[in-house]
Amino acid sequence: MNQTKKYFIETYGCQMNVYDSELVAGILEKETYKRADSVEEADIIFLNTCSVREHAEDKVHARLGVLREQKEKNPDTIIGVLGCMAQNLRDDLLVRKPYVDVILGPDSYRRLPELLSEHSGPMDHVVDTKLSRMEVYEGLFPARREGVGAWVSIMRGCDKFCTFCIVPFTRGRERSRTVESIVNEVRQIAADGFKEVTLLGQNVNSFHSESALFPELLQAVSEIQGIERIRYTSPHPQDFDDALIELHANNPKICNHIHFPLQAGSDSVLGRMNRTYTKQHFIDMSEKMRHAIPGLALSTDIIVGFPGETDKDFQETLDVMHAVKFDSAFTFKYSARPGTKAAEFEDSVPEEVKQNRLERLIDIQRQHTLERNRQHVGETHAVLVEKDSKKSVQQHMGRTRNNKIVVFDKGAEQVGDFVNVKITGAEGVTMFGELI
Ligand code: SAH
Ligand code: SF4
Ligand code: F3S
Repeated sequence: MNQTKKYFIETYGCQMNVYDSELVAGILEKETYKRADSVEEADIIFLNTCSVREHAEDKVHARLGVLREQKEKNPDTIIGVLGCMAQNLRDDLLVRKPYVDVILGPDSYRRLPELLSEHSGPMDHVVDTKLSRMEVYEGLFPARREGVGAWVSIMRGCDKFCTFCIVPFTRGRERSRTVESIVNEVRQIAADGFKEVTLLGQNVNSFHSESALFPELLQAVSEIQGIERIRYTSPHPQDFDDALIELHANNPKICNHIHFPLQAGSDSVLGRMNRTYTKQHFIDMSEKMRHAIPGLALSTDIIVGFPGETDKDFQETLDVMHAVKFDSAFTFKYSARPGTKAAEFEDSVPEEVKQNRLERLIDIQRQHTLERNRQHVGETHAVLVEKDSKKSVQQHMGRTRNNKIVVFDKGAEQVGDFVNVKITGAEGVTMFGELI
């Protein structure tokens, strides 16, 4: 019975899911399970899922339809749904997709080997979606793939309850890991040869352990030898304080890129979103950051078509975009999430209006990205080499400290090296350069 089984994990959603998939891989590989190279080879197929927008869930529903066919050919295949959709849609999955064998929410991964060993065959569902106030997966090490950057989850859950957002319901209450365990994990990451680390949480700047707040944690991580670049995502604009700005300005390992999620520009929409800051606060903070941190790049998230968003409200989002000129932006059409407060709001915005607003926003952002990137032409940047460029094996791609993608003709450098690149041009979201 106990022969080696092969698993495969497909990850959807945010970086926290990427981290969790590595965590699950680590948990399984501590037992007798081995990673399969493809879905076809796997005895157990996991989808680590996202519920943040309807589209994210649709993708997984469609994928499950395909996997069902594979299972019909090979009935011993185990199919598992992990993560936010497992948490959010457990009952629906049990009723409508009975061929899904395993349904585990984000706080239940520790029990996975035990639950798998109890699984006796088709229609014996293994389900655990209990959320925990404590689970931070202390003492477990994720099985990381090679690369130049590693992710580390420093906290789990979210207590902000932005009215549009499902995350507090799928991930549960906010809890931080200890500084000691995070530092230990980053030491291991450095020993494994990674040069860059990204600290993850739904609102990282409310990190608090007994001994430290977020800036102290960053400071501690920056003292680890071998780690050259530290990034984090996402901070919440309300909790972004001067100590953090100062750290960016003074500590060369803390990168000069900040993801600063706006969501909307009008105070009335921000109020109904429960974002707890105003348009003016957001603009003032952005200016303060740009002023204090040399070469800073600011990226953001924006939602259009929140219930009741008028043309005037939308115009205020554009005002903020023009005032801040973000280096890049992730833009979304509002998607009602059953169970959230905003799903009960009236005055939903018609689809064509949402689409039109999204297109205007994307168009403006494209111009701003290009404008910002072109300002770097002529400068020389330290670039951490990540991989071959998409277009040519004769070229490498890497990132600047402020997180911009640079493509350049290869020299003698290897992936994982730092090189100096002179920026010669910019197109789309990419900068081009030459080695010096
Ligand atoms: N904790 C992070 C966001 C996590 S979700 C933060 O506060 O920035 C990532 C992004 O998805 C959000 O920033 C938001 O822009 C978008 N998003 C979340 N819920 C959404 C919804 N119901 N419809 C559309 N976009 C949504
Ligand atoms: Fe969602 Fe708001 Fe929490 Fe971000 S801060 S995860 S948007 S509730
Ligand atoms: Fe999606 Fe869950 Fe992340 S809903 S965005 S995978 S926290």
